[in-house]
Amino acid sequence: MPLRSAARKRRARLATLMALHYSGARWWMIHCPDLERRSMARRKKIYEGKAKILYEGPEPGTIVQYFKDDATAFNAQKKDVVDGKGVLNNRLSEYFMTGLINIGVPTHFIRRLNMREQLVRSCEIIPLEIIVRNFAAGSLSERLGIEEGTQLPRPIVEFCYKDDDLGDPLVSEEHIAAFGWASQQDMDDILSLALRVNDYLSGVMYGVGIKLVDFKIEIGRVFDGDFQRLVVADEISPDSCRLWDIETGRKLDKDVFRRDLGDLTDAYSEVARRLGLLPQTAVVKPTLIN
Ligand SMILES: Nc1ncnc2c1ncn2[C@@H]1O[C@H](COP(=O)(O)OP(=O)(O)OP(=O)(O)O)[C@@H](O)[C@H]1O
Ligand SMILES: [Mg+2]
Repeated sequence: MPLRSAARKRRARLATLMALHYSGARWWMIHCPDLERRSMARRKKIYEGKAKILYEGPEPGTIVQYFKDDATAFNAQKKDVVDGKGVLNNRLSEYFMTGLINIGVPTHFIRRLNMREQLVRSCEIIPLEIIVRNFAAGSLSERLGIEEGTQLPRPIVEFCYKDDDLGDPLVSEEHIAAFGWASQQDMDDILSLALRVNDYLSGVMYGVGIKLVDFKIEIGRVFDGDFQRLVVADEISPDSCRLWDIETGRKLDKDVFRRDLGDLTDAYSEVARRLGLLPQTAVVKPTLIN
C-alpha cells in the first residue's frame, strides 16, 4: 500500500476511534465494527441502499437505520469505503434531527441506538429529493452557468424524482402534481418544512464558522390513524449537504470525495468537532483502560 494512502487510512481510523471513544463505546465495538453488524444479523433486513441498511424495528411502525462506511458519488459510479463515515453520519444526523425536533420541526428520528444505528419512525417516503440552495454549486452552476459560491438572491428549492436508474432527474411541480407524487397540500407543507430546515441548519452552521451552501432532504408520510403528517426523514449529514468553511472556503462535505480533495473522515470530523460532538483537540488514543 502506498505510504500516503496508509497514513490517510490511519488518520481516518484514529478519527473514528476518537468519535467512538467520545461516545462511550465499548472497546470491542471500537476495534471490531463488524461485530456490531453481525449482532444485527438476526434482524429482518428491509432494504440496503448505498449509504444505509434498513432493518425492521423493535416495535411496529419503527425501523432501524444502519449507517455504512460506503461512500458513493455520481449515482454510484464512484465508490469507496471510508472508515468511520457511518459513525460520524449517524451522530451528526442525530444532532441535526434532534435540533429540528426541539424547534418544532417534525422528523422521523426517535433515538440513536449505538454507534452506527438509530431508531426512526417508518414512513412512506415521497419519491422526491428536496434540494435547497443558498449559494450556487454543483449541478445548478453547471446548468445555469453561475460561478460556484455565488450567493443566490433567495433560497431556491428544487425537486428531483428519486429514481437511481434515471439519475434522479430534476422535475417541476407540474410533474409532481400530474403524476400524483404529492398533492398541492403536501407541496405547501414540503416547501415550508424545507425552508424551516434551511433556516435552522444555516444558523447552526454559521455559528460554527461554516456556510450552508445547499442540502438535500427526503420527506416521509406517517399515519396516526386516518391523519397523515409529513416529517423530515432519511438523514441530514455532510453526505447530503454542501458545507464550506466561511474563512478558508475549505469543503467539509461529500464533494471532498466526489472531487478527490483529501480525506473525507477528516472533513466530517471537523464538522463534528466544531459542533462539540468530538473533542476540540486530539485525544490520547483510547485503550482498554481509559
Ligand atoms: N423513516 C424512513 N422510513 C422508510 N424509509 C426511509 C426512512 N428514512 C429513509 N428511508 C429510505 O431508506 C433508504 C436509505 O438508504 P440509502 O440512503 O442508503 O439509500 P440510497 O442508496 O441513497 O437510495 P435512495 O436513492 O433510495 O436514497 C432510502 O431509500 C430512503 O428513502
Ligand atoms: Mg440516500
